[in-house]
Amino acid sequence: MDVFGRQAQEEGLSRIETDGKRLFVHYCVTCHGETGEGDGQNASTLAPAPPDFRASLPVHQPAYWKQIIEAGSVAVGRSPLCPPWGRTLPSDDITALVAYLGVLSRPAGQKPVEPAAKAPASP
Ligand code: HEC
Repeated sequence: MDVFGRQAQEEGLSRIETDGKRLFVHYCVTCHGETGEGDGQNASTLAPAPPDFRASLPVHQPAYWKQIIEAGSVAVGRSPLCPPWGRTLPSDDITALVAYLGVLSRPAGQKPVEPAAKAPASP
């Protein structure tokens, strides 16, 4: 298993979520940011800016996220700024991206605790 896969395993991601993360890092982080908070390198040039997924995703069903990924944000009556991927990515990749958005939509508190963030052992 490569470094990426090991890291994903430590984060408690399933196989499909790991595939989705790989795709997300490749295609989506430039705008959405690594954690989906909407702070990617390209985000400041966009109006509307990409939303913070933790707040925006839970408002809709995964079917709606999928529609945006496949056909672009314009397909749901929003801006054309989120590009369509349905013609370039196979449906398995879209399914994996939807699975990983499920991970990014969780409130921060539900992410597995980093070992470094645990309280130090008392002397
Ligand atoms: C060029 C920048 C850009 C890229 C690349 C991009 N997005 Fe977006 N995305 C946006 C913007 C901007 C919005 C907000 C659009 C709007 O509200 O009109 C958005 C919105 C979304 C939404 C709706 C979020 C919500 O709950 O409101 C989803 C889902 C989404 N993007 C998924 C993706 C995925 C998955 C990828 C990668 C496969 C991706 N985007 C790549 C810019 C981008």
